[in-house]
Amino acid sequence: MRGIILAGGKGTRLNPLTLSVSKQLLPVYDKPMIYYPLSMLMLAGIREILVITTTESLGAFRDLLGDGRQWGLRFTFRAQDEPRGLADAFLIGRDFVAGKPACLILGDNIFFGHGLAGQLKKSARLKSGAIVFAYPVKDPERYGVIEFDRRGRAVSIEEKPAEPRSHFAVPGLYFYDGRVAEFAAALKPSARGEIEITDLNLAYLRRGELKVEEMGRGVAWLDAGTHESLLQAANFVQAVEDRQGLMIACPEEVAYRQGYIDAKELRRLAGFIPNAYGDYLLRLSREVRGGGLK
Ligand code: G1P
Repeated sequence: MRGIILAGGKGTRLNPLTLSVSKQLLPVYDKPMIYYPLSMLMLAGIREILVITTTESLGAFRDLLGDGRQWGLRFTFRAQDEPRGLADAFLIGRDFVAGKPACLILGDNIFFGHGLAGQLKKSARLKSGAIVFAYPVKDPERYGVIEFDRRGRAVSIEEKPAEPRSHFAVPGLYFYDGRVAEFAAALKPSARGEIEITDLNLAYLRRGELKVEEMGRGVAWLDAGTHESLLQAANFVQAVEDRQGLMIACPEEVAYRQGYIDAKELRRLAGFIPNAYGDYLLRLSREVRGGGLK
């Protein structure tokens, strides 16, 4: 399975923070925002990853992430300069996806919780159809909203409805089969002129090929698109990391525990980070590999 991280957009809700820096490069406590969605793809076992951002930010993302080899991954970078919608990721990435199943994750979506890694691995085995998630929120009108019938089957998805039919939002994490680019190409732009991810999901739903999995209350789904939510996300990560002595969304750790890099390589990476983050990597490199990612 291929992975795509969508890290474009102007991030205007975070101005002036984002006047000269891409939103997805801003810190969420101790690491850049993009490390969080990146770690999700890694936990799913996905190693070929396309990063889509704006032309101005391409250089900065390349500087941060390199070609991915240091973490046992392979990155490709592409620009999206016009806000043509989330589903546009599959047109930009059409040759990258190359008719294979693909997972799309939004660069400002942060997930943390028990059982998540297992859910990701299972979803990454998808061969046909699509998988999205349903997550209970207080303010569904800000998101894509799923309506279920009495038997718990998804019957509709609406993008930012004024009157939501449920309190289940669709987080920015989507798994699709190899037809996704073809379906995205057939979408018509919405009233705001974008090809909507919700319409792509509806294309699968109408064919009876959309699986909706509940992401339970044991998982934290945060977005970091406003000043308040960015600070909240940072506080959340700090509280959990400080309590557990374990890092959330540390790509070096995930690479090590998945067996993509060995202890020697982990120690080499630690050498570039002369602070508590690097110390954490050094400590890990002395532990037995495997486990610890549940
Ligand atoms: C997008 C999607 C929406 C989804 C949300 C998740 O909205 O259009 O369906 O629920 O991401 O973060 P945006 O946040 O880009 O407005």
